[in-house]
Amino acid sequence: MIYHVPALLEESIDGLNIRPDGIYVDVTFGGGGHSVEILRRLKTGRLIAFDQDADAVINVPTDKKFLFLNQNFRFLSNNLRFNKIKSLDGLIADLGVSFHQFDEPERGFTFRQNAPLDMRMNKSGKVTAAKLLNTLDEKSLADIFYKFGELTNSRRIAKEIVLARMVKPLTTVNVIIDAIGKIAPYRQEHKFYAKVFQALRIAVNHEIDYLKEMLEQALAVLKPGGRLVIITYHSLEDRVVKNFIRTGNFDGEEKKDFYGNLETPFRIINRKGITPDEIELSFNNRARSARLRIAEKIR
Ligand SMILES: C[S@@+](CC[C@H](N)C(=O)[O-])C[C@H]1O[C@@H](n2cnc3c(N)ncnc32)[C@H](O)[C@@H]1O
Repeated sequence: MIYHVPALLEESIDGLNIRPDGIYVDVTFGGGGHSVEILRRLKTGRLIAFDQDADAVINVPTDKKFLFLNQNFRFLSNNLRFNKIKSLDGLIADLGVSFHQFDEPERGFTFRQNAPLDMRMNKSGKVTAAKLLNTLDEKSLADIFYKFGELTNSRRIAKEIVLARMVKPLTTVNVIIDAIGKIAPYRQEHKFYAKVFQALRIAVNHEIDYLKEMLEQALAVLKPGGRLVIITYHSLEDRVVKNFIRTGNFDGEEKKDFYGNLETPFRIINRKGITPDEIELSFNNRARSARLRIAEKIR
């Protein structure tokens, strides 16, 4: 089975503007598609890769320039300090889940196959989707569906879940689909379930909080002229990245200096972001929601 097919491979690695002697980080190693392309362009430089999923270890290349860390990228600065790396020429993040995680039924990331409701990217994490579904109060559940799934009927979904779990615990994909099936919009059931699952996955893995932590640390550790290259897969993530690149904060609040110039730590390389072209989608349709943003640290 294929572990992963990297999205926007050439565009993202070109965006790193690789110096053959530079130091780079890939914070989402996965199947290693982006890492291998970075290594190909390095001569004396180094690449440090992170992945919180221990399964990714099987893809680690043998290369003296490469170091793999089975760590969450929220610990970026600590790990770099530990490895005596003071600054970076570039960092790439290709967010979300790998095909491998999605396609392994027992990991519970997809509504298309019955499995335990797990959804942890790090299998030693304590909180699974089942745990959230069976223990959170109705309001907290509604907040998850509203904030992370952008679902307008979030309260109704939470209500159905709380009613269903009074009958039996929600432990598998089929049980939750049964619980919310009756409120799925007609002919848009799959889209609806995908959003519900996305919301749960983001909550289980703290994806938005950890993305913000990593971006702040990336800014601190990038050299002036260093590149930040991020691929996102949904609007929530993309908004966080876009605001941060544009303004240096997550609310997108513009701060101007004495002369009225926007104070931003980055020069934006591509204003609208890059999305896959038809050729890429013809062999990798799963990249259809990918959006690549590239920025260069100014100071
Ligand atoms: C879309 S895949 C990356 C695929 C990779 N670029 C490739 O070419 O094969 C995302 C990977 O990032 C990892 N990941 C997501 N969030 C993470 C985090 N906070 N810390 C470390 N790894 C994370 C996931 O476990 C997954 O393997």
